[in-house]
Amino acid sequence: TGLVTLDPGFVNTAACSSEICFIDGDAGILRYRGYPIEQLAEKSTFIEVSYLLIYGELPNQTQLDEFTSKISRHTLLHEDLKRFFDGFPRDAHPMPVLSSAVSALSTFYQDSLWPFDQDHVEISTIRLLAKLPTIAAYAYKKSVGQPFLYPDNSLGLVENFLRMTFGFPAEPYEVDPDLARALDLLFILHADHEQNCSTSTVRLVGSSEANLFASISAGINALFGPLHGGANSAVLEMLERIRDDGGDVGDFVKRVKNKEEGVKLMGFGHRVYKNYDPRAAIIKKTADDILTRLGGDDSLLDLAKQLEEHALADDYFVERKLYPNVDFYTGLIYRAMGFPTKFFTVLFALGRLPGWIAHWREMMNDPATKIGRPRQVYTGHTERDYVAMSGR
Ligand code: CMC
Repeated sequence: TGLVTLDPGFVNTAACSSEICFIDGDAGILRYRGYPIEQLAEKSTFIEVSYLLIYGELPNQTQLDEFTSKISRHTLLHEDLKRFFDGFPRDAHPMPVLSSAVSALSTFYQDSLWPFDQDHVEISTIRLLAKLPTIAAYAYKKSVGQPFLYPDNSLGLVENFLRMTFGFPAEPYEVDPDLARALDLLFILHADHEQNCSTSTVRLVGSSEANLFASISAGINALFGPLHGGANSAVLEMLERIRDDGGDVGDFVKRVKNKEEGVKLMGFGHRVYKNYDPRAAIIKKTADDILTRLGGDDSLLDLAKQLEEHALADDYFVERKLYPNVDFYTGLIYRAMGFPTKFFTVLFALGRLPGWIAHWREMMNDPATKIGRPRQVYTGHTERDYVAMSGR
């Protein structure tokens, strides 16, 4: 069977070549299609970044207008898909609701089942970008027992999402431009991160020639885990626990270092970054600002800053090159915006969607793509004879 190399967690194994995202983990560099994340964060918009990731270049004005208007024409959910939300318990976690609804899109749009037909891939791309915010908003509305709002297509993608989430049918909803810009920025920062767990999942599922909706649904489920996108909720829960236990940051860090069961510094550490995560640096800078404007809970932000300071001065974290990652400060911002903790990872999924789509499309167009099929090192029994029930 040839030589098989054991590499748990794919620490050293590249499974594809890609032109989408560049990370230098030692230097703390992140670029989408060559553009530094700092420039995109300052100057671009989420819709423009989505176009850049998926089609490879920044759009000109006509391309951007066309892309934006195509997306705004597909934001409605099929009325039958709306009924789908009634089948879940009210306290359901929104991540499995999101992945189930995305999976169900292949039943409503059966043209998506042709993963090599460029027109079908294109329309599935637009449908996903347009409908995921609506699905996410409905998952929220269901959880709080409020009526669903139809999308208002005169609004931008982020504004529309905020209105469908926090608005009411009979009342006008004024979108706060500061809040919309802050969420747009967070979506830009989450939009891609090369071969992370969920993106690799999207690629692996897609490599069997499964359709775009099926592959993205699998990616959402991979993102749900607390070591990946679920970390943004876990950080907030951790901060609240430390506060409720008296706010002793030093004691918590000690427990992390002692590797107490279930105690980890959530929002710290990264497989690739062995330096400050450039996304966390941008988010930290904006967290103060946004929290002041939105009236967020400063005591938790203070606690987070103390925790970071403590950890960065501690040998355990220094030796292991553990720095804050993208999830460390985002939860505080989402909370100030009014989202419940359970919903934070859904916001990560909304941001990561264009990256997943870009990777799926790149893979499907790459002649070098083969079905993903890792090997293993077998460590079980050697051959042995069947034992009859009376002899066991
Ligand atoms: N708290 C305490 N110790 C840690 C942490 C942490 N957050 N992260 C890593 N370590 C230790 C780990 O115990 C190990 O120590 P030792 O060498 O003594 O066994 C060493 O650092 C190396 O860690 P690893 O677990 O081998 O590293 P990995 O590349 O397999 O894992 C990680 C990366 C992100 C899963 C991990 O750092 C972690 O669990 N962090 C907390 C969860 C988190 O914040 N996840 C979000 C990741 S960023 C964006 C995203 O994907 O959502």
